[in-house]
Amino acid sequence: MGKILTSLFPFSTSKMLKFNLIVAVCENSGIGLKGELPWRLRSELKYFSYTTRRRENPKKQNAVIMGRKTFYCIPENKRPLLGRLNVVLSRTLKASELPTNVLLYPSLEEAMQQLEQSDQIETVWIVGGSAVYKEAMASQRCHRIYLTKIYKDFDCDTFFPAIPLDFVEVIGDPETPQGIQEEEGIRYEYIVLEKMS
Ligand SMILES: NC(=O)c1ccc[n+]([C@@H]2O[C@H](COP(=O)([O-])OP(=O)(O)OC[C@H]3O[C@@H](n4cnc5c(N)ncnc54)[C@H](OP(=O)(O)O)[C@@H]3O)[C@@H](O)[C@H]2O)c1
Repeated sequence: MGKILTSLFPFSTSKMLKFNLIVAVCENSGIGLKGELPWRLRSELKYFSYTTRRRENPKKQNAVIMGRKTFYCIPENKRPLLGRLNVVLSRTLKASELPTNVLLYPSLEEAMQQLEQSDQIETVWIVGGSAVYKEAMASQRCHRIYLTKIYKDFDCDTFFPAIPLDFVEVIGDPETPQGIQEEEGIRYEYIVLEKMS
């Protein structure tokens, strides 16, 4: 696949707030098993944490949007995810069931419309799971997919949807390590894809 050089941060000619996706996917397209990650890759988790937190303006923060199950998949002592505004999507949860600093919305679009009202948010990250990724990739609000390709099969019960054809691999993010990474004998690679339409 050819790579093209593009801008680092979401850019839009209109005022529409965009988002990026971040996901780690194994060779058989899996992302989860029994409410957990199917693998243990400490450096990959650090990359997730660093990438979803990093911003140009230290006075702003990033937001992470996730489905109900993904929120509860985060170990109790690590949720809400530190240093980011946590937003949970659910049609069944009540706000009183979540920590007070976590926002709850019944749809991705409602969450985005609320975040759009704030001038305190720099980058919005969609962090799973399956249905949220699918809706996000189809949205005109989608800027990039930060995809970790894990070159191994794992037993999984949750899968990453097919990536639409309007995404193209890009270079242009100097903070994404290049080339094959290896941890615990598992090979993986960080890829960045951008929506072209
Ligand atoms: N590999 C990775 O990078 C990665 C990333 C994230 C998650 N995961 C894994 O994926 C699994 C969890 O993902 P999942 O797909 O099973 O569940 P999920 O998407 O996290 O949660 C599903 C729930 O979220 C709510 N929801 C989803 N889309 C919504 C929408 N558009 N509007 C309103 N509510 C929405 C619904 O909650 P209600 O039923 O309450 O309405 C739905 O039942 C875990 O195993 C986790 O470890 C892996």
